[in-house]
Amino acid sequence: MAEMKSTVENRIQTDPLVISDSFEGYSLTYFNLPLHYRDDLQSVLIPYGFVQDRIEALANQIFADWHINLPEQLICLCVLKGGYRFFSDLISKIQLNNRLHNCRSLPMSLEFIRTRNQPNDQLEIIGLSDLHRLKNRNILIIQDIIDTGSRVDILKQKLEHFQPKSMHVVSLFMKRQSDKACIFKPDYCGFEIPDHFVVGYALDHNEYFRDLEHVCILKESVMSKYKIIDK
Ligand code: HPA
Ligand code: MG
Repeated sequence: MAEMKSTVENRIQTDPLVISDSFEGYSLTYFNLPLHYRDDLQSVLIPYGFVQDRIEALANQIFADWHINLPEQLICLCVLKGGYRFFSDLISKIQLNNRLHNCRSLPMSLEFIRTRNQPNDQLEIIGLSDLHRLKNRNILIIQDIIDTGSRVDILKQKLEHFQPKSMHVVSLFMKRQSDKACIFKPDYCGFEIPDHFVVGYALDHNEYFRDLEHVCILKESVMSKYKIIDK
């Protein structure tokens, strides 16, 4: 039998899958969407199943890159709240690799932080974990979206203070900016998307839309509808 030549490279692309500006998303009529959001959405940019497939590919590559560090745990740091679903699905898919491979595995420790902007524009980390645990450890920061990149850049600088051995970033989305350049390139990224405001799969607009499965483009007219409720 003639030798079969593989045309597929072994290494999975850790650069983002690029969704072009000319793609305006799928019509809502093809999807089962919650009634309470149907009128607010313009289109489905990335269906849930597509997101899952891409996360599986990233999980496989992260497993391939990091399993050699056994028996040291990789510290997986979830940036809440937007990153919680991506974090959960990515970790599950790495765990699947751990169950499927007999001779290789990647032990993980799961940690959680939130960030918030202070009035003086400083970024504050609200640690839900003891960040002193990061000292001399390999850290994978897992977050939802990078737009200008300044937030994640500052977060990394703040975490440097805890003297980790290494720090890598995986972001599910990276937004292509029309006016300003993105100053940060993550080590692993799911999708590069056009400059639209997207919601769903835990990404919110003023705490709404996290309970939506698909990643959707929000109608511009809706941006003012969901206001922050003052306490
Ligand atoms: N959606 C939700 N949160 C965000 C976005 C977005 O498009 N960009 C930055 N934070
Ligand atoms: Mg948000």
